[in-house]
Amino acid sequence: MSAPARRTYVVTGAGSGIGAAVADRLHARGDALVLVVRDDQRAVDLQDAYAGSTALVADLADPEALEQALASGLPTSVDGVVHAAGVVDLAPIGDIDLASWQQTLAVNVTAPMLLTRALLPALRAARGTAVMVNSSAGRRAHPDWASYAASKFALRALADALRAEEGGRGVRVSTVYPGRTATPMQALVHAQEGKEYDPDDWVSAATVADSVVHCLDLPAGATVPELVVQPAPR
Ligand SMILES: NC(=O)c1ccc[n+]([C@@H]2O[C@H](COP(=O)([O-])OP(=O)(O)OC[C@H]3O[C@@H](n4cnc5c(N)ncnc54)[C@H](OP(=O)(O)O)[C@@H]3O)[C@@H](O)[C@H]2O)c1
Repeated sequence: MSAPARRTYVVTGAGSGIGAAVADRLHARGDALVLVVRDDQRAVDLQDAYAGSTALVADLADPEALEQALASGLPTSVDGVVHAAGVVDLAPIGDIDLASWQQTLAVNVTAPMLLTRALLPALRAARGTAVMVNSSAGRRAHPDWASYAASKFALRALADALRAEEGGRGVRVSTVYPGRTATPMQALVHAQEGKEYDPDDWVSAATVADSVVHCLDLPAGATVPELVVQPAPR
């Protein structure tokens, strides 16, 4: 039996949490990784961690710089893109800081739009899969979560429109909605909520990564448009 073809995946947020767990999985089985990283130091860190990977340096909070960075040097064929980078900053609407709101929207939805747009020819060429790491906050907005939830509702809209536009060209689009997941972001959320953080209370990043990789690995002819992963009741 011949070895499966080496596939190429573009991953954001591979330096931490869910994105790192996805990159671990894909790298361990020999897939080629193109990692979108915020700066040169992060590029060095991640190229050390994932031998043979390529880094594309772009601050996802800066849409103009990202658009410029994506203007050249992208692969011509991509089997999948995983949009895992994200930020959160809790505040009631009365206290939302404009710069924080703009950063949340830029990283969580504008960057996935720009990156997906730039990768479309490569995704079409490979009949590839886009996976958006959304959130339970992308289905329901709770108090203090307006900016994050707005970004994730918008990310859902991006995914739904993309699926409808590109399905006929063979591009699959999956949205994964994790509940609270044990990552540095969740530790930060607990700090902002003034709560004690115990990672064992939440879904592991590896479990969410399994769901993401499941979407990437589906055989041609099948797709999972949406997948909800939540902590089990205890
Ligand atoms: N943790 C949860 O409970 C949870 C639940 C539902 C959904 N999610 C979603 O899951 C995804 C991953 O979250 P996580 O929990 O794994 O978070 P995390 O551990 O904080 O990791 C976030 C990643 O995003 C990257 N990133 C943030 N801002 C960036 C920027 N301006 N430019 C480039 N990269 C940037 C970070 O880069 P650096 O490594 O350089 O810092 C990091 O690698 C996010 O979309 C999040 O909204 C998380």
